[in-house]
Amino acid sequence: MRTPLLAANWKMYKTVGEAEAFVSALLGGTEGVDLAGAEIVIAPPFTALPAVATGVRGTGIGVAGQDLHWEAEGAFTGAISAGMLVEAGATHVIVGHSERRRLFGDTDDAVNRKTKAALAAGLIPIVCVGETLEERDGGEMPAVLTRQVRGGLNGLSAEQVGTLVVAYEPVWAIGTGRTASAAQAGEAHAHIRSTLSDAFGADAADSCRILYGGSVKPGNVKELVAQADVDGALVGGASLDPNSFHQIVAGGRGTEL
Ligand code: PGA
Repeated sequence: MRTPLLAANWKMYKTVGEAEAFVSALLGGTEGVDLAGAEIVIAPPFTALPAVATGVRGTGIGVAGQDLHWEAEGAFTGAISAGMLVEAGATHVIVGHSERRRLFGDTDDAVNRKTKAALAAGLIPIVCVGETLEERDGGEMPAVLTRQVRGGLNGLSAEQVGTLVVAYEPVWAIGTGRTASAAQAGEAHAHIRSTLSDAFGADAADSCRILYGGSVKPGNVKELVAQADVDGALVGGASLDPNSFHQIVAGGRGTEL
C-alpha cells in the first residue's frame, strides 16, 4: 500500500518569518496536524528552507527544494545544487515543475539530469509532468505524459523509480481554479503508472507514488485521492494557509477535520 503524500509548493511566497509562522500554526497546540496515515512535505523558497527544516525537526515532515542544478558547484549564477539543498535541511526536491519548464526552459533532458543529481545526493525527487490545454484538446495527453515520464526518468534503475514521486500537474489546472475531474486525473495517473510499468517493471510502478496537482483545495482533495492511482497531492495556492493545508492533509488521508 502506498502512503498518501501531501506536498505544499509555496512557489515564490513567504519570507522566513512567514514560513516560521506557518509551521508553528500547522504544528501548534491541540489543533496540531495529525501526522498518522499520511506523509507531508513542505517546499518553501530556498531562503526559508533552513527555518522550515528546523521548525519541523522530529515530526517526520519532509522539506523540499523547488528546483536544483545538476552540477555540484560551478559558475551558474542563481542556481543551487543538490548538496546545498541537503545541507539546508531538504529531504525532497521538486523537479521539472511546469513553471520551470515554461518560464525557465527546463527540457526533459534537464529534468533527467536534475533527477539523477537529486537521487545521487540522497534527495527524493518529485518529478512533475503534465500536458497543456492545447495538447489535451489535440488528443496528445497520453503521448506528452509518456515522453515526459520516459525522458525525465531515463537511465534510472527500477529501485530508484520505486522510491521517487511523480506529480501529474495538467498545466491548464495550475493556479486557474480549474481542477481536473477525478475521472480525468484517474485516467492520466493510470497512463503514467502503465508507462512506469512498461519502462521499469511492475514493482517499481507499484511503489512509485503519483501525486495530482492543479487547483487542489480542501473541498476536492478527497475525491481526487479516492482514485486508484492518485496517491496524494502537490498543492500550490491552497497550501499557503496552514488551516487550508491542514484540511487538505486530513482529506488526503481520507478523513475529515
Ligand atoms: P495550484 O498549484 O495548487 O496553485 O494550482 C499547484 C502547483 O503548481 O504545484
